[in-house]
This record gives sequence, C-alpha cells and structure tokens, in this order.
Amino acid sequence: MTYRHLITLAGMVALWCGIWSCQPNEAGSPEPAPEPTTPGFKPTPMAWKKPANFPEPVYDLAKNPVTVQGFALGRALFYDGLLSHDGTVSCGFCHQPSAAFAHTDHALSHGIRDQIGTRNVPAIQNVAWQREFFWDGGVQDLDLLPISPIQNPVEMGDTLANVLAKLRKDPQYPGLFEAAFGTKEINTERMMKALSQFMVMLVSANSRYDKAVRGEGPALTDTETRGLTVFKAKCASCHATDLFTDGSFRNNGLPRIPTAKVDDIGRGAISLNPDDRYKFRVPSLRNVERTPPYMHDGRFWTLEQVLTHYAGGITDSPTLDPALKAGFTLSRQEQTDLIAFLRTLTDTEFLSDRRFIAN
Ligand code: HEC
Ligand code: HEC
Repeated sequence: MTYRHLITLAGMVALWCGIWSCQPNEAGSPEPAPEPTTPGFKPTPMAWKKPANFPEPVYDLAKNPVTVQGFALGRALFYDGLLSHDGTVSCGFCHQPSAAFAHTDHALSHGIRDQIGTRNVPAIQNVAWQREFFWDGGVQDLDLLPISPIQNPVEMGDTLANVLAKLRKDPQYPGLFEAAFGTKEINTERMMKALSQFMVMLVSANSRYDKAVRGEGPALTDTETRGLTVFKAKCASCHATDLFTDGSFRNNGLPRIPTAKVDDIGRGAISLNPDDRYKFRVPSLRNVERTPPYMHDGRFWTLEQVLTHYAGGITDSPTLDPALKAGFTLSRQEQTDLIAFLRTLTDTEFLSDRRFIAN
C-alpha cells in the first residue's frame, strides 16, 4: 500500500464516520443523511441518457440523481482552487476539458507548489461505467474519490475539514448547496455528490466512430475501416467494447525506465499479489488523439510512439499479459490504418461542450 492509498483510506474512514456517524441500522448499512429542509425545495432534473452502443452504467444514478443545480454546484467545485491548500490548484487545473479532462502539458501530474507526482493524469470520461479508478484501481467509489486529490500533499495538499470550513465561509457556496440539496448546510456527502453529478455527465459517445456504428453519420473511410479490422484483431481483447476498455489490469510490456523516480508496481501495490506487479488499468482509447502523453507514466507523446512500442518494444517479464507473450507484430500499413481509426474516436462535441467548462 502506497502513501497515496493510505491518504485515501484514512479520508474514507473519516468520511463514512462523518456522514453517517458510524451507526449501522438494522440492515447493517449506514443511516441515510437527514432530509433537506428548505420548504418547496424542488431541483430541476437533468437528463442523463445511456448511449445506444454502451452497456448499462455501473454508477447508481438513482442514489444521486443529476439535477441542474447539483451539476452546476459540482462544476463550480471542480474548477475552484479553494479546494486546494493555497487556492491555486483546482480539479480542472489537472483535468482539462479540451483534453477529455486529462492533462497534456506534463508527463506526470503537476500539483500545488509546482510539485510533480508519479503518474500521468488520466481522462475523466464515461466514469458512470467505471468500476475502479486510478491506474491501479485503488479507489472503487466515485463518490469517495475526490478525498484523494484534496488530501494528497503533491496534488491539492489540504484536508477535507479545512475545505469544508472554507466552503461554509464562502459568500456563494451556502446558496449553491441550498439550490442543489435543499439546505445551506455544507457537508462532505453533499460536496462529493455534487462533484459526482458533474463527473457522471461527462459522457463521450458522439465521435465519428459512434455515429458510424449507430448509423447516424457517414461510414468510416477505407483506411479507418482497415484500422478497425486490425484493432479488433490485435487490440480489442483489452481495449474492449465501445468503452474501449475491459476495465482489467494488465501488463502491456512497457520496459522499466532506469531513471524513473519511483518503481511503480501498479496493481501489485493494491492487491499485494505478486502476480499483479506492473499491471495497470487498461485505459479507454476514446479521445486518445487529444490525451497525450500516454501510459501511466506519460512516457509516450505520440500515437506513433505507442504503436512502435506494440510493434516491437514489448518487454517480457513474469507478469506480461499472455496475449502479448506470443509475439506481436504490426506492419507499417497496419500502424497507419490503426492511427486513422484511433482518430475517429475523437469526440469534438464532448471536447468543446460548453456545459463542461468553467463559467
Ligand atoms: C495535481 C493534479 C490533480 C488534481 C488537482 C486532481 N487530480 Fe484527479 N487525477 C490525477 C492523477 C495523477 C490521477 C491518477 C491517479 C493514480 O492513478 O494514482 C487522477 C485520477 C482521477 C480520476 C480517476 C480517473 C480514472 O480513469 O481512473 C478522477 C475521476 C479524478 N482524478 C477526479 C478528480 C477530482 C474530482 C479532482 C478535484 C477534487 C481531482 N481529480 C484533482 C491528478 C489530479
Ligand atoms: C494485453 C492487453 C492490451 C492489448 C492487447 C493492447 N493494449 Fe493498449 N494498453 C494496455 C494497458 C494495460 C495499457 C496501460 C499501460 C500502462 O500505462 O502501464 C494500455 C495503454 C494503451 C494506450 C495509452 C492510452 C493512454 O491514455 O495513456 C494506447 C494508445 C494503447 N494502449 C493502444 C493500443 C493499441 C492500438 C493496441 C493494439 C495494437 C493495444 N493498445 C493493445 C493493454 C493492452
């Protein structure tokens, strides 16, 4: 277990006890939060639609229905430096909308007081379908995830208690919480639910690929179609379904970088199972053209470099994925076609959606 996960774990225990006073009810589950108090409280439901080519979501929207007011509060929180210790680092500082909420300026995450982390910032998209978060699956619940960046000393470097205190003193937040939850009382649960409402709305499903498979737009070109065929044969066992990930943890044969400041063993540090060493979560490839750098440590800056890795750079090790052990080839033509196909996954509507940017 790494330092980062200890922070998350400690925060989660504090959160659960804070919200529900740690008193299990008869069924053994925690007591629900008290009901809102403002008379006539009626937030406006916000439409959340499952794209026809997607599986059922994992996030339970019935427990945290998205509303116009909750989403607006979540967006305000997401782009507010107040969530960090010195006011300079918001969630959106690292998760940029034009990069599908990944970060394209640094290979490794860049937080408060210019501190550099150990991992590349992943995209935030289609999180309603995600069972596990972070490159190693160290967090399983979207509603608990923000504790980790808030309390991580190299990301936002604050404490949850201090952030809540700042929100309570702020001129605008009590009103925004009242509009979203029917009470001016700001607590961790409501803050997390608002952030989740914003994040579950970040659905990317309108790329040229999507429109072609749903018969809503033009078919793919010849080179893109050949790329899709190669993709299905060589990539889709891991980058599976129209989410372009099967959500599993695998070792795709990246060689160790001797100068790296940490020896990141990924999933192995969470499960403590030696068979999981150097396995990382298979990332979605949606909007991949716009989310460089690539891999958990941001080692590649272009898709060409990624394909050069798969075409001859795969390094054997005890946990290398069996699908890659047998040898893996990609001809020049296949690489060209694959890149043409990967570019069809760029969803410009999502990347420029004005609802998702700071206002
Ligand atoms: C300093 C940069 C930084 C800040 C600030 C930051 N994040 Fe992140 N975020 C990261 C990194 C790095 C990861 C990957 C962590 C890992 O794998 O260990 C991540 C992962 C995530 C993920 C999971 C994505 C996935 O596919 O696994 C979500 C969701 C997320 N952050 C939301 C937030 C929210 C909400 C905030 C604000 C409360 C926030 N982040 C603030 C850098 C940052
Ligand atoms: C055996 C499973 C597996 C196969 C097959 C596979 N990948 Fe991956 N891919 C992964 C894993 C795991 C990662 C993340 C590795 C890491 O960061 O350590 C990854 C990362 C990537 C990334 C980086 C994405 C990002 O956001 O950082 C790209 C691009 C990619 N793969 C493309 C492909 C293509 C194209 C193919 C087919 C030629 C392919 N992959 C085949 C498992 C696989």
